[in-house]
Amino acid sequence: MKNIFRVWLVILFIFLPLGKIMSEHNSADVVSNGVEWRDINGNVINAHGGGFLKVGDYYYWIGENRKNGVFVSCYRSKDLLNWEFRGDLLTRNSHPTLDKANIERPKVIYNEKTKKFVMWMHYEYGRDYSYARAAVAFSDDIEEPFTFLKSFRPFGNMSRDCTLFKDSDGTAYFFSSARENYDMCMYRLTDDYLDAKEHVMTLWPGGHREAPALVKRGNYYFMITSGCTGWDPNQAKYAYAKSITGPWSELINVGDSTTFDSQSTFILPVEGERETSYLYVGDRWDGTHYFNSKYILLPLKFYGETDMQLNWAEKVVPNVKSGEVAELSN
Ligand code: DGJ
Repeated sequence: MKNIFRVWLVILFIFLPLGKIMSEHNSADVVSNGVEWRDINGNVINAHGGGFLKVGDYYYWIGENRKNGVFVSCYRSKDLLNWEFRGDLLTRNSHPTLDKANIERPKVIYNEKTKKFVMWMHYEYGRDYSYARAAVAFSDDIEEPFTFLKSFRPFGNMSRDCTLFKDSDGTAYFFSSARENYDMCMYRLTDDYLDAKEHVMTLWPGGHREAPALVKRGNYYFMITSGCTGWDPNQAKYAYAKSITGPWSELINVGDSTTFDSQSTFILPVEGERETSYLYVGDRWDGTHYFNSKYILLPLKFYGETDMQLNWAEKVVPNVKSGEVAELSN
């Protein structure tokens, strides 16, 4: 009898703490804004300046890693709450020209014709931002290492903060801050998405915008950008257009004067059975200690066709099945 009691005691001592450890890394059911986000293995998520892509049932999140010679990492999630690390897509060893590189704001889209995932990003060489180039890489599999193709200045223009946008007809565009960030240039890509085919237009010349993020909702394209204050946050602005090639509206304030201490990186549509929500994804940078930077995920609200609003919520709960996003104040 005594022995059975001892066995039970041992079982209790082993499994109680194990249960606690497991529950700590157990499934998350809410997104808490501005705090450290960990993946399902308990590791801090390194995917800043990132973008998202839905492939099958999975949302893929691809962003800056910067640790141990890794430039770009890949995570996936079915619910936008629990993220699984799937691998490093670009590292210092991916190409000889990456040995001293700095890669920012990687974005990936899929090319139906070539069946390749194509990544565009901001490429710097050395310590400062004077290279101001775009770079391109591709892969057959979104979870496998990408082949680095080249870095260049599209049509000779400087190219820093950037994003990719794939339109419903399959045409893809690259947007990037040019002329010391004074201009936002828009390029149409070649059919294989591996090069810039045409400099379509320069948006808000002299407007000094960074951190572009685009989405199409209904009959309108929307673009959010930030001002240029280095790692410090500032007032985000949005603009809209019926045609992607313009005319674009004037820039309109969205969110508060610091965009809730964040800078835009992506607008993520969550297409559910009941509705489609649009999530603003921003980086809450810590310019002094980059790895203390955090993430912000907030629903963008639309009133009428073109009125966009962004409000603070401590926590959000995306429901990928219905498409609804609940907001919690604490
Ligand atoms: C703001 C950009 O948006 C970031 O990606 C980064 O380049 C910082 N500037 C560097 O100061």
